[in-house]
Formats: sequence, C-alpha cells, structure tokens
Amino acid sequence: MARTRRAFFCGNWKLNGTIAESLALATDVRNGVASLREVDVAVAPSFTALHAVAKRLQQDGVDGPVMVAAQDCFWEEKGAFTGAVAPSQLADVGCKLVILGHSERRQLFGELDAAVNLKSRAALRAGLTPIICVGETLAERDAGETLGRIQAQLDGALADMTDAELERIVIAYEPVWAIGTGRNATPGQAQEVHRFIRTRVAMRAPAVAPKLRILYGGSVKPDNIRALMAEEDVDGGLVGGASLSAESFIRLVKEGSAS
Ligand code: PGA
Repeated sequence: MARTRRAFFCGNWKLNGTIAESLALATDVRNGVASLREVDVAVAPSFTALHAVAKRLQQDGVDGPVMVAAQDCFWEEKGAFTGAVAPSQLADVGCKLVILGHSERRQLFGELDAAVNLKSRAALRAGLTPIICVGETLAERDAGETLGRIQAQLDGALADMTDAELERIVIAYEPVWAIGTGRNATPGQAQEVHRFIRTRVAMRAPAVAPKLRILYGGSVKPDNIRALMAEEDVDGGLVGGASLSAESFIRLVKEGSAS
C-alpha cells in the first residue's frame, strides 16, 4: 500500500560530537541516503556543529538530501537572555527544523508545555519546522494515564496555532520509558497513540490531520523500524542511539522507507 504521507527520519545526536566528528557522520549519512527518493531525512547535531554541518550538506548553495535540525531553541528573538539561541539564528546557520519538548528537556531542564508552545510558535515565525515531542512516563502508562498525558501535552504545545501553522509542524511520539532503554513500544502501542494524536488534531483542524506527520521515537533500530512503519499512522522515526552510526542510521532509513 502506498504511503499517504512522505516518510521522515530525523537523527537526534543529543550531546555528542566534535565538529570534525559531526561533519564525518553527516557526510556519510548524506552519501548513504542520496539516492533515496521517497523519504525525507534530517540530522540534529549539537549547536556547536550546526553551521559546519549545514554548510557541508548544502551542495553548491542548494539544499541537499539531508536537512539539518537543532535540538532546542528559545522563543525570544533577541535581548538579555544569556545562553539562549533564537529560532532566526538557527535559520541563519542553515537549520530547517528544530526538535522541541524532548522528554530530556522536560525532565532535566524543567521545560513545561507552555514553553514548548512559545518555542514552537517562535520557530514557525522564523520559518523553521518544529518537531514537537510528546510522551508518557512508565508510571503514567502503568496508571492508565497515557492518553490523558499525551492529550495535555498536545493541547498545551499546539495552543493558539492556526491551521496554517499546524500544517507545518511534525509531531514525535516518544514514550519516555522507551528512550535509550532498548525497550521500544510495540507497533500496536505506537499506533494507538499515533491514531489518538491524529484524531485529536482532526478535532480542531480536520483538513490538516490527514497530512500531519507523526514520528515514533524510543529505541528505534534498523531491525524494528519496518514493523513500526507498517502501522497506518506511523510516518517515520526520531532516532537517538541508532543515528550515531552512519551505517545503522542509513540501514534504518532504507528499511523504514522501503515498505
Ligand atoms: P533513542 O532516543 O533512539 O536512543 O531511544 C530517541 C530520542 O530520544 O529521540
């Protein structure tokens, strides 16, 4: 069955890599996926390597087959905000996307849904595509609160967005208990939440929901991506550990976009 939405895979490199290491990895990924036509691919290096990687991935000033994403941004454009990076600064160095609301940002840096909303809308204003992450903890899943948690995160992150803005976002469902643990959600568990997200978006923007790309994240590997992608509402992956090796990320993208 042909996909209704173009598959999309984004490697989240987290806090890893010198500029030289990031350039080498990005170059290998580009060479490995350049011939693939039916898939979008992005990598998210650390802030310090964004500019170098973005320049390397452009070919003669033209966008190449691999886009560059940042891992966070602030919501203000300029001012007295020590340590913060504005969305327009990310666009300036060649980023096309920015990951927002990752569970590590929420858990380790105290990021709340309201901040994810402000950041997402600022990213959209700067012409970036926000990849907005939502996901429940193991305690919430065990307590039967998964969908309630997802609903609260989604409603908070998407508050006050117009339909035109909703049309430009990507959502990533990342169960916290599956991130970096080697324990991925089953395809059925992922599909249940992905369907819920699409239905929830359809309630306010019925024309947008069928086009919305919803990625799964949490211990995605080359050998489990095919089964996840076979689910109707799984449109790609946000990949941590398996994106740090070009060989495994390329294999994952090929497996995931083959079905
Ligand atoms: P993982 O991370 O693939 O290493 O589980 C995914 C993520 O945090 O985006």
